[in-house]
Amino acid sequence: MTENNYWQAVALSRDLGVNPRRIWWNNRPLVLFRGAEGIAALIDRCPHRHAPLSAGRVVAGAVECPYHGWRFDGAGHCTHLPGLLDQMPRYRLPAFRAHEQGGIIYLSEGEPMGTPPAIDAAGTLRLRLMQSAAQGRLIDVAENILDATHTHFTHRGLLRGLSAKRYRVQVEVTGGPGWVEAAYSGEDRQQGIVSALLEGARVRTIGRYRAPGIAELEYWGPKGLVLSTTFHLRQATADMVEGIGILAGPHQGLWGWLKMQAFTPLFRIALAQDRRMLALAAANAGHGPAQAPLIGPLDFLRADMAAIDAGLLPAAATTPLRHQIEL
Ligand code: FES
Ligand SMILES: [Fe+2]
Repeated sequence: MTENNYWQAVALSRDLGVNPRRIWWNNRPLVLFRGAEGIAALIDRCPHRHAPLSAGRVVAGAVECPYHGWRFDGAGHCTHLPGLLDQMPRYRLPAFRAHEQGGIIYLSEGEPMGTPPAIDAAGTLRLRLMQSAAQGRLIDVAENILDATHTHFTHRGLLRGLSAKRYRVQVEVTGGPGWVEAAYSGEDRQQGIVSALLEGARVRTIGRYRAPGIAELEYWGPKGLVLSTTFHLRQATADMVEGIGILAGPHQGLWGWLKMQAFTPLFRIALAQDRRMLALAAANAGHGPAQAPLIGPLDFLRADMAAIDAGLLPAAATTPLRHQIEL
């Protein structure tokens, strides 16, 4: 992915105070800071002697380099060069578009399409904002979030029962420009602890991938959406993926709130299980002769996710597919 014209969640508002902060995006360090005109994001490398601006401080809405004190405003213009009496030269650092909304900081390269996604949809309660990181490539991490078939093994007992029982389900794979989804229906209630806490009968589970690296899971019950999790993932460095996760669900009163409080630590355990497996697989991938991962017959989204990342229309957009599997 070279161009990124979508808004992408990269940090939580509560983690950016008065000091500048570094984040990684596609192998580039960026500095986030609260500028005179709101959130600002620049390349985190002073053009003078390459010191990290994130190690400096924010003065009058500009980030000040810790080495010689040059200052850069939110648009990347050098606004102050200590000791200089003559006219300021025109120096400019590359700047990214930044936007803060609902406790989340979003970035975009280039002209973003539309506004950031509304995460507080009507009747929906935002339950948790979290940050997470995993080893590997973005497509592997996104696929892991959306992949239903690993839950029997990686999350045995937590998202699934201890028994090997499986149920016949229908899978519908559809897509459009920049997105692809797999909708699972006919699933009986799952047996794990998390399912027991969260759900009555589950009617439909949807796993959706959207450019640029957004993985969404939705659990639908007979009365509507029960829970949704959205992960904005970004390739931080060559082998590290970072993400902002948003857990949301309908307003359900006190009982619903209590269930969610119980759910969060279990969700974190599931994330840790996934992180461990992703790290093992990423470390192992480099051993032996170079080999692309095999796309198995139940890996419904992988090829289309790769197409979306390459800026192509996913095959499911023109040829929706239906499958029966045991899950
Ligand atoms: S390195 Fe930043 S001001 Fe000199
Ligand atoms: Fe998982």
